[in-house]
Amino acid sequence: LGTRAVEIELPIVLDRVRGGLRRQLEEALRTAIRNGSLRAGTTLPSTRTLAGDLGVSRRLVVDSYAQLAAEGYLAPAPRSGTRVSELATAVAQAAPTPTADTPKYDLRPGTPDLAGFPRTAWRRATASVLRRAPDDALRYPDPRGHPELRRAVAEYVRRVRGVACDDGRVVICSGVREALSLLADVLADRRGTIGVEDPGLHEGGEIITAAGAGVCAVPVDGDGLCTDRLLAADPDAVLVTPAHQFPTGVPLAAVRRSELVAWARRGRLVIEDDYDAEYRYDRSPLQAVQGLAPDHVAYVGSVSKTLAPALRLGWLVLPPGLVAPVTEAKRLRDGGTGTLAQLALAHLIESGDYDRHLRRARLRYRARRDALLHALGLHIPAARVAGISAGLHVLVTLPPQTDLPALESSARRRRLAITPVARFYRLPPPAAAPQLVVGYGNVDAAAAEAAVRLLAEAIDDARSAGA
Ligand SMILES: Cc1ncc(COP(=O)(O)O)c(C=O)c1O
Repeated sequence: LGTRAVEIELPIVLDRVRGGLRRQLEEALRTAIRNGSLRAGTTLPSTRTLAGDLGVSRRLVVDSYAQLAAEGYLAPAPRSGTRVSELATAVAQAAPTPTADTPKYDLRPGTPDLAGFPRTAWRRATASVLRRAPDDALRYPDPRGHPELRRAVAEYVRRVRGVACDDGRVVICSGVREALSLLADVLADRRGTIGVEDPGLHEGGEIITAAGAGVCAVPVDGDGLCTDRLLAADPDAVLVTPAHQFPTGVPLAAVRRSELVAWARRGRLVIEDDYDAEYRYDRSPLQAVQGLAPDHVAYVGSVSKTLAPALRLGWLVLPPGLVAPVTEAKRLRDGGTGTLAQLALAHLIESGDYDRHLRRARLRYRARRDALLHALGLHIPAARVAGISAGLHVLVTLPPQTDLPALESSARRRRLAITPVARFYRLPPPAAAPQLVVGYGNVDAAAAEAAVRLLAEAIDDARSAGA
């Protein structure tokens, strides 16, 4: 008694050149709590001590502690300190323990910045929903989706993506995959066939086949979907990513957009997957094709890239004739998407927090893209990067002698996860130079540098193995 506990030292190093000191401090604290190096109940250094140790203002530390307290990582300690909360450690312990197979660096596409999830805004939105929602909101949901979210989504896609719609055309679902599956259910009833981009979303074909509809692959080249091949195959519908082709990263060329729309107007359906159009870094994104032919395009989107894939929330904006059959397919499948999460998303959009989050995220992803390209230029100068400045991934063409199977095993030994583009083809891939689809959404600048250095080593290995 009477003696003051010794303050612990935090192994935190801030990178002043990179800037964003407050964000760096918060990320370092979150990581230390998540990986268990800061355990529940540990009292943190006082704000004055930590500010002195790190050479930053006390206000910056006070604000960081407050942010982590709002997120549930920190809690007040007896006698006015701050400690790691029990809740945060329970979450950390629930996380799977990394094994020797867990990648240390992950360059696979598909994951946004998970640490950037707007926890505070989401907490505010869910708290507001729990306060405001009447008991009636807890009944089985409307299979079309809750009117508040359908209204918010209609307003958002009209404003941001030029989609022509009112809320009557919107159906809420769990994401692009479910949207495709619901449309495939409806087309299967009509014995229809759906074309998929080749290369394209790799579960696309499986989802369509599982629903019992036919599937055909339509090749993609440097101008996006090959519309001449689409016209020749002439399926009942086609799944396409016009704003930013996945995985090649090119937009659909203007003349092909017109050909696609003309084809759709002849009684076909375009399923427009607008999965990452919020992220264009060099200019405004191309508006949705749906705006050109609202009665022939099913526009689909989700929050998987804008917030987090774990939410499982997405939407369809449908031609009028498809609203009733898709709603019926949704009713039979699961009775509708959970109402509370729908209301929280509606609140996030209507409060302006969604737009604010996206403005910040866009800057962060642009910096991550720049960092990745810089590292590639430095460590693998022979690599070529294709695609527009957009989204969360790039297509990287490796030096021609690189043996891909050898590269994959050499990368695995280094605990570096990579994805060859061949994985996204249904038809045999063209015998071109080896290519990787590299995701940078969840890879900060330091990790990009380290991961690309490992990739360069793995390529050297693979080339000497092939030589
Ligand atoms: C081409 C494409 N479409 C859509 C999605 C998102 O799918 P979902 O909304 O089902 O999470 C992804 C995610 O990786 C994707 O790559």
